Parts: sequence; structure tokens; C-alpha cells
Amino acid sequence: MADGNLRRPLISGNWKMNLNHFEAMRLVQELSYQVTRDDVDAVDVSVHPPFTDIRTVQTTLESDRIPFFLGAQHCHSDASGAFTGEVAPPMLAKLGVTYVIAGHSERREVFGESDELINAKVRAILANEMVPILCVGETLDEREAGEAQRKVEGQLAAGLAKVKPEQVASMVIAYEPIWAIGTGRTASADDAQAMCQAVREAVGASHGSDAADSVRIQYGGSVKPINAAELMNQPDIDGALVGGASLEAESFTRIIQYRLHD
Ligand code: PGA
Repeated sequence: MADGNLRRPLISGNWKMNLNHFEAMRLVQELSYQVTRDDVDAVDVSVHPPFTDIRTVQTTLESDRIPFFLGAQHCHSDASGAFTGEVAPPMLAKLGVTYVIAGHSERREVFGESDELINAKVRAILANEMVPILCVGETLDEREAGEAQRKVEGQLAAGLAKVKPEQVASMVIAYEPIWAIGTGRTASADDAQAMCQAVREAVGASHGSDAADSVRIQYGGSVKPINAAELMNQPDIDGALVGGASLEAESFTRIIQYRLHD
């Protein structure tokens, strides 16, 4: 198992389709009053607003010198073209976006994104010098059938196909059991750790031990202030991808400050 100290924790707020650009600016400002210098020295923080908010959040972070990373929730795999409604990776890079989520279960399930498409997005995000957060996770039926690990390993193999080991080393993988997303049901810390360890071992087998030691693995699915510390204390969990609880400054701050609430 890798030395956890090598990997800086990353707490990411996925706002999904919530908050207009005024509300987004207000939330970022409220967070900046509550999150301390010590917090951002210890933990990386990224916020992932809807596309319409990204420019506003970028200028707010810059003008108020707020040390959060800017993120996006999604992108197309091509650099430009006739894809009505889509947003290209170079457009996000130009806005100072660092982290882009790829393969969120809502994109897979609601919008029918395939493993192949998600792999193309991962490679496009990397080609534009941003960091993919590749999401993987099983349904409740798959977990109950004892198929969880096989499902996750399959998504991982497909998502990381043709990605170089040094690129995988720089990436983030988010393990998000689908049955835990937005439901208030969290995987137990032991189950989350077991799957994150399996993810790291699978990365080691496919891309080598350096990639496995460096890749950051987040847990996501009903992360709240009350369970963040226990999850974050697991050796193979390096961060959290937070949906609902990232929409309010107080709860997101308490998650960012998980180490104070042990
Ligand atoms: P949740 O969402 O924290 O609201 O469960 C997590 C996610 O979908 O990334």
C-alpha cells in the first residue's frame, strides 16, 4: 500500500445543476470567509459550478485571492465542432479550470455516456493540461450480487485505456457507489476503503506502482460533515467528491475541515 503522505487530500464540491452565477459568487465568498489558510495548506479544494457560472467564479476566486481550484462537471471530447450545446476542453482550460469530472454516474445513466466516450474525454482533458476526476461505481443490484468490484474494475480499465502511467499518476479517481449518491446512504468507511484499495491495486496492475502510489482516490456519495473524517482517515481515500453538502458554505467548510472534527 502506498504512503498516504505522498498524496494531498482533494475535497471537491460538485454543484450539479444548482446555483445561478450570482448565487455561485455568493457561495464562493461565504466559503472564503470560513475556510482558513491552515485549511488550504492542508487540503486542496475544488469547486465545480455549472458552465454558466464558471467565468464569474473564476473572476471571484482571482479578485478575492481565494486559493480554491476551479473545476467543471463535464466536457466534450473534441476541441471544437458542430456539437450544439457542448463545451470543449480548450474552452475550459482558457478559463483557468484545473479539474474536470468525467464519467459521473448521472452522465452515464441519464445521458447514456459510454465507457468509450468517457475514455475519450479523459484523454482530451489530459491533452489540455487539466486533471480528470474519473468517476466509477456500482449500482445497488450489482453490490448485492457481489459484482461491485468487477464493475468498478471494468469502468477503470476502460476509462484509463491508452492513458500513460505518468498521466494516471496525476489523475483523480472518484469511487462513488451509485446507491449512495444523493440518498443519504453512505458506504461504510470499511467498504469505501476496501473498494478504494481495490482501485489502487487495479491501477498498479495496469499502469505500475508509481501511478498507483500517486493517483488520488476520492470517495463520493452522501459525504457529510458527520462522516467526512472517518472516510478521509482511511489509508486509500485521498479526498471526497461532495454533491448536496457542497451547496452550503457551512457544511462544505466542515467537510474541508474534517481533520479538526476527528
Ligand atoms: P451527493 O453527490 O454528495 O449529493 O451524494 C455526490 C456526487 O454525485 O458526486
